[in-house]
Parts: sequence; structure tokens; C-alpha cells
Amino acid sequence: MTRAPLAAYPALRLRRLRQADWIRRLVRETVLTPADLIWSMVVHEGEGEIRVASMPGVTRLSVKDAAQAAKEAKALGIPAIAVFPHIDGAKKDARGSRAADPNGLVCNAVKAMKDAAPEVGIMCDVALDPFTDHGHDGLIEGGRILNDATIEALVAQALVQAKAGCDILAPSDMMDGRVGALRSALEAEGLQDVMIMSYAAKYASAFYGPYRDAIGSGKLGTGSVDNPGDKKTYQMDPANTDEALREVALDIAEGADMVMVKPGLPYLDIVRRVVDEFALPTFAFQVSGEYAMLMAAAQNGWLDEERAILESLGAFKRAGAAGVITYFAPRAARLLGA
Ligand code: PBG
Repeated sequence: MTRAPLAAYPALRLRRLRQADWIRRLVRETVLTPADLIWSMVVHEGEGEIRVASMPGVTRLSVKDAAQAAKEAKALGIPAIAVFPHIDGAKKDARGSRAADPNGLVCNAVKAMKDAAPEVGIMCDVALDPFTDHGHDGLIEGGRILNDATIEALVAQALVQAKAGCDILAPSDMMDGRVGALRSALEAEGLQDVMIMSYAAKYASAFYGPYRDAIGSGKLGTGSVDNPGDKKTYQMDPANTDEALREVALDIAEGADMVMVKPGLPYLDIVRRVVDEFALPTFAFQVSGEYAMLMAAAQNGWLDEERAILESLGAFKRAGAAGVITYFAPRAARLLGA
């Protein structure tokens, strides 16, 4: 019998390692588990749950339900919850005064969740936008977002959050120097164990749209000189990548324990660069618009919802992220068999 010369066959058959589930599992390079998830959760001051129209499956939770959800996180093996407040319009002002209210919604939610499930880490956004009537993350004067004055307000906000029991402060405002200011304020107050996960590389993104609906911050300003219509003077230009590394380097130098890249999937290249360059725990935020996109396609029958959820989350692990902040957290944990 004559044999074809060996060269007629592929020299290497990579498909050999894909032929059955057992071998695929054996050679798998990254694994997603509930321990990779931070549950992004919206709370409100009223009773009951309120659906967020642009984010099917996401509801604003009452403080009581948030405490229950913290227990659920524990049962599902989700290590931490990131809490975002929906504040009544009547309670907002230009200075975002309620951000530093020790008896406000965020502090009440933190206390209730820590009481219900002390083993679950609680992370708070440090930024003024849920509390300002103009929807910006900082104080405005003459149409400009004031950097240093905003930092003072952020420090006041962060200290009440930390004193309420928040474990991780997550400044998402993108003012220059805020991480250093938070770190020294924490040290001065004897709160040295409070962690900082900075939104280090946060882009001025269209993908935050549904979040404004979720927390009720409405449309940003009119675009007039006194009322900027976007966040481009403080959030990063989506076209940039080296700048992300400079932001991360600064935040680490100022005392951040962990950093975050935001949004998530469209910015996985940034996640990979940050991980390779700095080798510190790097998280990514699968933001509201990413959630909405997946759900909209799934509800139209255009995507297999469960597979798409897990594949999108697994992509963050492949890019080198330590974990993902996601509205899918409880759902994904269940899909993972928790
Ligand atoms: C505000 C903040 C935003 C998000 C988290 N914190 C919106 C923004 O910067 O405009 C977005 C979260 C999401 O879209 O899921 N500091």
C-alpha cells in the first residue's frame, strides 16, 4: 500500500486538543468563576423594586432589598457589590451637597448590607454626578469643571462612605490628584485599611447612556458654555492608549490598591496593556450600555443570551483582568453553577 507523503497532512493538528469536553477543560487557559464578579447594583430611597427600562432585568433596589441582595451575593460566592444611588431630583443641587450626607442613601445602604452580610465587600463610587442637578461629576463654575474644589467635595463624600463601612472607595470622577487626596484623608482619619480602586482609565464613552436612566441623572447639560453637554474635559479620549498608562501610573503612585478600566469590552486592549505594564489587580467595568446591547440583541432572538453573557465575561479574564464589575453578576454566578 502506498502512503501519501507526510507533507500532504497538516504538520500540527491543533484540533486534537479540542475533540472532547474533557480535553478542552484540561487545556483551558482561563476560567471564569463567581469570585471574579463585582455586582453592580442600583439602590433607591423608596420601597420595592423599580425596573430600569433601558436595562431589562436590572431593578433599583430599596435599602431593605439591597441587604437581602448582599446575602444573596454571599450565597452565590460573589465577593463584592458596587453600589450606585438613584437620588430624587428634589434632593439634587449644583454642588451635589447630599453626596456627603452621613445619613443619606448610600451610607444607609452600605450599613444595611454590611449588617446583613459582613463577609461581602462593599464598594462605593466617589463622584458627585448622582447628586448634582447638572449631572456632572464635579463642581462647575463658568462652564468649567473645577478640579481642586471638586476634590474637597469628593474627600468629604469618601469619608462618610468609609465611616459607614464601605470597604473599597472607587473614585470615578477623573479629577487630577483625587486618589492622593483620598489616601491622605483616610490615613489622617485612621481609616488606613480602606481600599481604593480607582477608575484610572475611564473614557468619555457613549456606553454609559443607560446608567443615566438607572440613577436618574438625566441628560447632561445643554452644551452651552455654562452647562457642558459631555464629560470630555475630564474623562479620557476614546482614541488614546498611552494616556491610560499615565493615568494608571499616577493613581498607583498616589495610593490606589487596584485600578479599573472603563468601559469594558470595547477597551480590552487597555486592560491587557495595563496588566502587562503594572502587574497589579486590574478590573474592568462592563458598563450599562454593554449590558443593554447584549440584552437587546438577546430579546430579539439575535444572540443566545446565556452563552453571550458568559463569553463576554470570560473575555475579561482572557485579557488579564482580575475581575469584572457587571450588572450580570447574580445571573452569571447562577449560570456558573453557584
Ligand atoms: C459616574 C459614573 C458613571 C458610571 C459609573 N460611575 C457614568 C459617567 O461617568 O458618566 C457608568 C456606569 C455604567 O454605565 O454602567 N461617575
